[in-house]
Amino acid sequence: MCGIVGYVGRSQAAPILLDGLRRLEYRGYDSAGVAIVNGDHLETRKCAGRIASLANLISKKPATGFYGISHTRWATHGKVTDENAHPHFDATGKIALVHNGVIENYQTLKEQLIQDGDTNFQSDTDTEVLAHLIGNIYRKLEGTNGKDSKARLVNATRAALKQVIGTYGIAVVHADIPDFIVGARRGSPLVLGVGKDENFLASDVSAIVAHTRDVVYLNDFDLVSFDSENFEISSIEGTSGQHAVSKVEFTAEDIKKGDYPHYMLKEICEQPDTVRDAMRGRLTYEECTAKLGGLDMNAAELRDVARIVLTGCGTALHAARVGEYVIEQLANIPVDVDFASEYRHRNTPPTEHTLVFAISQSGETADTLGALRESKRKGYRTLGICNNVASTIARESDGGVYMHAGPEIGVAATKSFTSQLIILNLIGLLLGRMRQLSTAQGKQMIDALEALPGQIEQVLKLSDQIESIAKKYSGVNGMLFFGRQFNYPIALESALKLKEITYLFAEGHPSAELKHGIIALIRPDLPSVFIAPDDAVLSKNLNNIEQVKARKGPIIAITSGNGAKQLKNLAADIVEVPTTIDCLTPVLTVIPLQLLAYHLAVALGRDVDKPRNLAKSVTVE
Ligand code: G6P
Repeated sequence: MCGIVGYVGRSQAAPILLDGLRRLEYRGYDSAGVAIVNGDHLETRKCAGRIASLANLISKKPATGFYGISHTRWATHGKVTDENAHPHFDATGKIALVHNGVIENYQTLKEQLIQDGDTNFQSDTDTEVLAHLIGNIYRKLEGTNGKDSKARLVNATRAALKQVIGTYGIAVVHADIPDFIVGARRGSPLVLGVGKDENFLASDVSAIVAHTRDVVYLNDFDLVSFDSENFEISSIEGTSGQHAVSKVEFTAEDIKKGDYPHYMLKEICEQPDTVRDAMRGRLTYEECTAKLGGLDMNAAELRDVARIVLTGCGTALHAARVGEYVIEQLANIPVDVDFASEYRHRNTPPTEHTLVFAISQSGETADTLGALRESKRKGYRTLGICNNVASTIARESDGGVYMHAGPEIGVAATKSFTSQLIILNLIGLLLGRMRQLSTAQGKQMIDALEALPGQIEQVLKLSDQIESIAKKYSGVNGMLFFGRQFNYPIALESALKLKEITYLFAEGHPSAELKHGIIALIRPDLPSVFIAPDDAVLSKNLNNIEQVKARKGPIIAITSGNGAKQLKNLAADIVEVPTTIDCLTPVLTVIPLQLLAYHLAVALGRDVDKPRNLAKSVTVE
C-alpha cells in the first residue's frame, strides 16, 4: 500500500525512480510524484492518477538530477488531488518527504506547528505535517552540528519521529544537502538497496531488484542515511546496530509479465509450479508425513499441540478457513479461524499448547501483524505462513513455513492462495501422522499432493471453456457462490475474486444456508455457482442445486468424477476438474473460479491487475 523509491548515484534519477514506481504501482495507484535535487533546488513533479500520468508530466517537463525520492499513493488522509500527492515539503520548501503509513497525531502536531509560526500548509495530508515538523526542528538545530548539515538532517528527522504516533516508512531529501537521503520505518516496510557507486531506498525490493540484489531490510525504528557510496543505520533513539546485507532471492525477470496480457493470468498459470514449490522437499516418503523444519518445533512439542488459531485477511483468511476443515479432519486438533482485524482486538480466553498461525502473502498486512503481536503478548507460539521471506511477519514470528510462490504482482491473490492451501494440508498431514492418521492414509495424501501439479495443468486447459462462460454471463449484475465443507471457503474466495476485479455484486455461502434467506434472491438473471466436486457432500450439494433450479436460477457447476453425470440436467454450465482426495479438492476447484473472475473482468474492460480502490498490501489498519 503506497510505494517509495529513493535513489542516489551517478545516473539520472528520474528514469530510475519512474521505473521503480511502475514496479510498485500494484501497491497503490491513485497519485504519484518525484522530487529530484538539481543543484540547490528541488525539481518536483506530482499529480493525481497513475504512474503513466507522472511519466507524461516528466516527459513534458523533465526533472534532472542524480538523487531524489518518489512515491505512488493509496489515499488514507486527504482526497486524491495533485496537492495531496507526495512528496510533501517543509515550510521553506527545501525539505521533501515521501511517506507510507498514517501519522495518527497529525492534528495535534499541526496545531503545535501553527502556534510556532510554522504555517504555509499546502495539502490536507498527515504527511505534510511530518515534513513541516522535520523542517521546523532542522531550523532550530542550526549551529548544533557545526557545518555538518547531514547530521543535522538526521537529528531533525530523529527528533520529529520521536513525536510521532502512528506508522511510517519515509524518505527525506534536502535541496541544500547534495547526494544524501534519510529514511526510517515503523510499521511500514523499507529496504536499502546497496549498489556500486549508487544506493537505493524502496518500500519493496521489486522496485530496485533490476539494479541490485544486495539489500538491507530495515527493522521497525531503524533510521538509515546514505549517499552514493556509504550508508549508516541506527535506531530512531540513536543507538547503532548490526545490519546484514542479504541477497534477494528473485530477479528482475521474475517480475516481468512476459507474454501474458496481465500479471493475474500469469500468476494463475504459474500454479502447477508454485504448488510444486510449496511442497518441494517437505514430503518424506518413508514415514509418509510432512517435514516442516521452519516451524522449529520438536516432536514432543508438536504432539502437545492442543489448539490452533489461524488468522489473516482477505484471501489469506479464506485459506485459513479451508485450513480449519483440513487440520481438524487430518489431525483432530480444534482449530479456530478469525479475521486478523477482529482477533487482535478480542479478548479470547488464553488456552495452553496453542499455536497461532498468521497467514499473509506479503507478510506486511497491518491487521495480520497486529494479530501476531497480540498473540505473542499473550505468550502463544506464533508462526507465519508468508510468501515474502524478508517481511515483518516472517521476521517477527517464532517460526513458520514459506510459500516460495515467487513475487505476486496482480492485486487479486491467486497463486499465493493455492500455496497457502498446500502448506495447511502439510501442517495437517504432519500433525495427523503424529496422531490418528495411518501410514496408508499418509501415503494416500502424499500421492494426491504429488498428482496436483499435473492436475492443475489439466484445469488450466479449461480456460477457453471458462472464457465462453464468462462472456455468456457478462451482462449479469452479480453472482452467488455456494459450496460445502472444504469448498465452502472456495465460495467465499470466488465471490471475493469477482468483487475485487469485476466490481460486480457477489456473495459466497455454505450451500445449505441457501434456504435460510438467500433463496429469496434467486431469479433467472442471477447465476449461482456451485462448487460441487465428487466428494462426501456431493449428494447434499445436489439437493441445494435442485432448490435453485426449481426457482429458475441459472447454475454454473464446478464438479469432478461422477458429479458431471448427476448435474447434467441441473446445471446450465458444467466445468469438470480432476478428482482428488476431499481435503485437496479446493486446490483444483478454485482455479476455474479465478479464471472465471479474470475472463469476466476482461470482458467488462476492467483494469485486472490494478482494480479500483484496492492495494496489494494493506499496511494501515
Ligand atoms: C489486501 C489484498 C487481498 C489480500 C489481503 C491480505 O486486501 O487486496 O488480495 O488477500 O490484502 O494480504 P496478505 O498479503 O496479508 O496475504
